[in-house]
Amino acid sequence: LTHKRYPVQRLPFSVVSEEDLAAFERMVPGRVITDPEELEASNVDWLRTVRGCSKVLLRPRTSEEVSRILRYCHERNLAVNPQGGNTGMVGGSVPVFDEIILSTALMNQVISFHDVSGILVCQAGCVLEELSLHVEQRDFIMPLDLGAKGSCHIGGNLATNAGGLRFLRYGSLHGTVLGLEVVLADGTILGGLTSLRKDNTGYDLKQLFIGSEGTLGVITAVSILCPPKPKAVNVAFLGCPGFAEVLQTFSSCKGMLGEILSAYEFMDAECMQLVGHHLQLASPVQESPFYVLIETSGSRAEHDAEKLSNFLEQVLGSGLVTDGTLATDQRKIKALWALRERITEALSLDGYVYKYDVSLPVERLYDLVTELRARVGPLAKHVVGYGHLGDGNLHLNVTAEAFSASLLGELEPYVYEWTAGQQGSVSAEHGVGFKKKDILGYSKPPEALHLMQQLKALLDPKGILNPYKTLPSRA
Ligand code: FAD
Ligand code: MLT
Ligand code: ZN
Repeated sequence: LTHKRYPVQRLPFSVVSEEDLAAFERMVPGRVITDPEELEASNVDWLRTVRGCSKVLLRPRTSEEVSRILRYCHERNLAVNPQGGNTGMVGGSVPVFDEIILSTALMNQVISFHDVSGILVCQAGCVLEELSLHVEQRDFIMPLDLGAKGSCHIGGNLATNAGGLRFLRYGSLHGTVLGLEVVLADGTILGGLTSLRKDNTGYDLKQLFIGSEGTLGVITAVSILCPPKPKAVNVAFLGCPGFAEVLQTFSSCKGMLGEILSAYEFMDAECMQLVGHHLQLASPVQESPFYVLIETSGSRAEHDAEKLSNFLEQVLGSGLVTDGTLATDQRKIKALWALRERITEALSLDGYVYKYDVSLPVERLYDLVTELRARVGPLAKHVVGYGHLGDGNLHLNVTAEAFSASLLGELEPYVYEWTAGQQGSVSAEHGVGFKKKDILGYSKPPEALHLMQQLKALLDPKGILNPYKTLPSRA
């Protein structure tokens, strides 16, 4: 069997039989979904660009149930697609053919929270925003935040090693995660829900599963360190006359705001047009070629306000910034963040979206957008750049009325070659999934790819976990 749209062959896994369904019904009674209408939403990704044809979705509640399911699938040689909130951007969250969908939707229990250490232990299916509310009531925050917070699961965040809007301040999940519980392909439960800040007892195995996109094991629970909730939060939204000024503003900001800086995001003028047109969000500042969102998080409002006002005086006075607005109250802060967070949604309303998520040296980061815009000309509706500038992470997106192979030919491999030319990464934070698996060679040497294959074979010898994803297809 060959996939209708993509050049990929179904591997010789078993096909789910009536006996299999009966066995699943015994393992997770009433939580075996086979109704095609109910399955539809789980067979297609958020961007609506990849679609599988799974006939069954399972909703376990506990790690033991996940273990029983995987032990059975391993014995029967049935392929499994782990799924969280299905907000992934690289087609990793949906089946390619008829893989069984293993959803964490009902694994949504908080196990414990310690208000001195800030350590949260919870199941993998907890929705990020619900965890945020849970810990905020206790004067802590989650170390990560992203536009998909209302739907994405913490397990999906871990599996993709999501970056997001707080990365600049709190760093990667590789640092904030203290422990994981994972069910391996053969059903073995690998317990490791420790709450220790320091633990050098040999290899740090949990790191292997963070960013493994469901190909090495199913993450069932996590122990994660939450920072204290900042007492004062401010957001400044600024207009800059050019990208050089965006960079200089970043430098001044690091120098003048120092330890209270918690986000430095940027978007270009076309992004602002898109959120205006599709979401009716109005720009709070004069029209500019670039916009920057700066967030500060500190422990004393007066101290932060003073620093911020000195900074604004400096950047406005020197012409780095042409117009700006400041928010200290929750409602306005949210409104300013929405301009940046909802670009993804505006793009998806614009047509077919080609998404690139690259790490580049900041000095060259926007050159890729300018060069690509000139290259594709009228073939595209929009070529936009936005992203986590403070982390050197560009989101380069191109929209068109519909999918076009000729436009794709202009975009790829150009974007990947350009990125490799800067020693950048062809996947900064979204992962590899189904869409990017054959381009890893632009950012990783063959020896590293070979070791990835060996690790996969060791942990999942039958290859039943999220097949066709993350690892380059064998030649
Ligand atoms: P899914 O999409 O369901 O799955 C993603 C991958 O993880 C798949 O390969 C799946 O098989 C695997 N997986 C899921 N759960 C498990 C599990 N328990 N065990 C093992 N494997 C599992 N990403 C960023 O990095 N930064 C952002 O700022 C950001 N913003 C976004 C904004 C929007 C509006 C949207 C739609 C997406 C955004 N993303 C962002 C993409 C991001 O990858 C996801 O939002 C999120 O991390 C995925 O979580 P999920 O629960 O939806 O996982
Ligand atoms: C973002 O930063 O907005 C997300 O990573 C989603 C996207 O790239 O569109
Ligand atoms: Zn992002």
